[in-house]
Amino acid sequence: MRISVIGCGYLGAVHAAAMAQLGHDVVGVDVDPAKVDALSHARAPFFEPGLPELLREAADTGRLRFTTDMGEIAGAQVHFICVGTPQKRGEFGADLAYVDAAFDGVMAHLGPDGVVVGKSTVPVGTAERLAQRLTDAGSTATLVWNPEFLREGFAVQDTLHPDRLVYGVPAGEAGERAKAALDEVYATPLSEGTPLVVTDYATAQLVKVAANSFLATKISFINAMAELCEATGADVTSLADAIGHDARIGRRFLNAGLGFGGGCLPKDIRAFMARAGELGVDQALSFLREVDSINMRRRVRMVDLAREVCDGSIVGRRVAVLGASFKPDSDDVRDSPALSVAAQMQLQGARVVVTDPQAIDNARAKWPDLSFAETAEEAATDADVVLLATEWTEYRELNPEKLATVVRSRNIVDGRNVLDPATWRAAGWTYRALGRP
Ligand code: UDX
Repeated sequence: MRISVIGCGYLGAVHAAAMAQLGHDVVGVDVDPAKVDALSHARAPFFEPGLPELLREAADTGRLRFTTDMGEIAGAQVHFICVGTPQKRGEFGADLAYVDAAFDGVMAHLGPDGVVVGKSTVPVGTAERLAQRLTDAGSTATLVWNPEFLREGFAVQDTLHPDRLVYGVPAGEAGERAKAALDEVYATPLSEGTPLVVTDYATAQLVKVAANSFLATKISFINAMAELCEATGADVTSLADAIGHDARIGRRFLNAGLGFGGGCLPKDIRAFMARAGELGVDQALSFLREVDSINMRRRVRMVDLAREVCDGSIVGRRVAVLGASFKPDSDDVRDSPALSVAAQMQLQGARVVVTDPQAIDNARAKWPDLSFAETAEEAATDADVVLLATEWTEYRELNPEKLATVVRSRNIVDGRNVLDPATWRAAGWTYRALGRP
């Protein structure tokens, strides 16, 4: 099939390459010429494991190209909208400017049998509004809402082997046509054995924000338990293991620590609360406000722990922050807990040096006042305290004996509960962690 993908960020670039690999003829469109240039040369414009290989494979087939010219989508049967919906400045709601602009562009080049597929995470009601625009314009094309659940760091795997597919379609013959088109796009092997939920627009849009809200709640639940553990001398990692053995609860997404960040969970729960308010059901989501506050409190607690091990003051102290991205295997620094802690400590008078295997350039662009180092050893040189803020494998595997030779004081705060306290203490370190004695 001929397919267009509008927006080539973390979602769209991977989606475009994956669709070409499935055998479709794909054009990816983005407003950023640098991104288009990189992708056109089969280079990933951001760090995502497996994406460079996927881009090269797709490029070799000759079925994948990228452009800034929206006119090149003409002739495609299916158009995927994969643009971002960031949080509006100064408020909780989502900014739909990119979705609207992408939709305008698609409408200008849409054939009578065209299918527009929304993948962006949007406030419920957006799909209905966009479908109405097609009707108002007298278009016979149809809109499907097909939310995307990919995780950064696993984007290729999640796109090619999704947990489930969700189609939000209109009632009647138009819906059947749209479903048939998407079935053809996601043909075997992608759809083989993959559960499919076909539903209405509202449900499809809600599925995505409900899933992200549940995940955020799970993380904040265990982080709330971490606060209880800190008050009682209990260990949140054992607690998570023990409750996680109950299959109804499950161990995944119960890792206590610095909490969630990134371009999705924080802004999605806020936009969901804003939308609930508009719909007159804000009480239904008031718990998400608590989920957000628990999450933000972890960052403050991390700074407090660092202050404790520095004998009550971080003013003038050298602090090494290991990790800048919001999670390992990503160079994404949007709402990164690690950088938030680093910036808070710098504001409070500490001399902070941040390191990260992949995200230093992005971090420097966003936080130019912070200092950066290439390696953990360099960042930790003369440090009064080392903070593990993002659990990259190379930080999990740090040798405490070796690191001890470069620091000024052997103080470590494990913000992700990934180090073995006994090993670090045996090497002479003061080990502190979020939610552990
Ligand atoms: C998330 C959803 O998982 C994905 O389905 C959706 O499509 C987009 O949002 P992503 O933002 O890539 O994906 O990251 P995810 O792996 O969910 O992690 C989010 C944050 O939660 C990270 O900052 C991570 O460090 C944190 N986290 C995750 C925890 O603090 N504890 C955990 O147990 C799990």
